[in-house]
Amino acid sequence: MKYSSRKNVIEINHLEKTYITGDISLKALNDVSFTVKEGEFVAIMGPSGSGKSTMMNILGCLDHTSVGEYKLSGVNIEDLDDDQLAEIRNKRIGFVFQSFNLLPKLKAWENVALPLVYSGIHLHQRKEMAVKALEGVGLGERIDHRPNELSGGQRQRAALARALVTSPNIILADEPTGNLDSKSEEEVLTIFKELNQKGVTIVMVTHEDGIASHCKRIIRFRDGKLIKDEVIDHEFYRDF
Ligand SMILES: Nc1ncnc2c1ncn2[C@@H]1O[C@H](COP(=O)(O)OP(=O)(O)OP(=O)(O)O)[C@@H](O)[C@H]1O
Ligand SMILES: [Mg+2]
Repeated sequence: MKYSSRKNVIEINHLEKTYITGDISLKALNDVSFTVKEGEFVAIMGPSGSGKSTMMNILGCLDHTSVGEYKLSGVNIEDLDDDQLAEIRNKRIGFVFQSFNLLPKLKAWENVALPLVYSGIHLHQRKEMAVKALEGVGLGERIDHRPNELSGGQRQRAALARALVTSPNIILADEPTGNLDSKSEEEVLTIFKELNQKGVTIVMVTHEDGIASHCKRIIRFRDGKLIKDEVIDHEFYRDF
């Protein structure tokens, strides 16, 4: 498929984000514009404090901004009410964070089933879906384990299963391998690549060149500005 005929999933135009703390105002994002089309696998890189997480929170509709425009699958986020935003966060977007954010008292499958709680799906079926998601990340043998009974890599895979249980078409991951050893890092990356091959659009923050080199494109931030947008997978972006 030609790159230009793919649909826009994310469209950011002249976005700014200013944090105000007491008397100090800090521009964490400064005139940022870019587009991500369906099927892309984008790495976001840049020094600490350059605005990567700020960008991810806005992309995930966890935070908003009054300057600039954000269109998600063609819909202007500004035009949505709270219920519609919650629906998008719940069903369309899967989040993966560096710190896993699993609830310690819940078993792996219960953690994974959490995003389904408000879906109206019956408990029996929620468990079935959670177990399937855990099997998909190679944790079929660990469904009753609690987070402290899992290794770091297994925890991150459980967090990934939780992000995938709703079958989102976008995955947003903020340093998903930041706390992992190199073997677990590779496992998570392999799952991401398989998902992307199935058509899931992925935007992932990483500090590691080795990881970014597996993505299709690298966007670099510095001081809140997008300073470089680089194609890795030239085949994907060909337009003829
Ligand atoms: N809630 C907040 N209130 C005020 N300032 C903030 C807030 N969140 C982030 N900042 C500031 O905004 C800037 C960008 O932060 P951000 O977390 O986006 O950086 P980052 O690129 O993700 O860094 P890292 O690689 O360390 O995670 C930083 O200077 C940070 O101190
Ligand atoms: Mg960050």
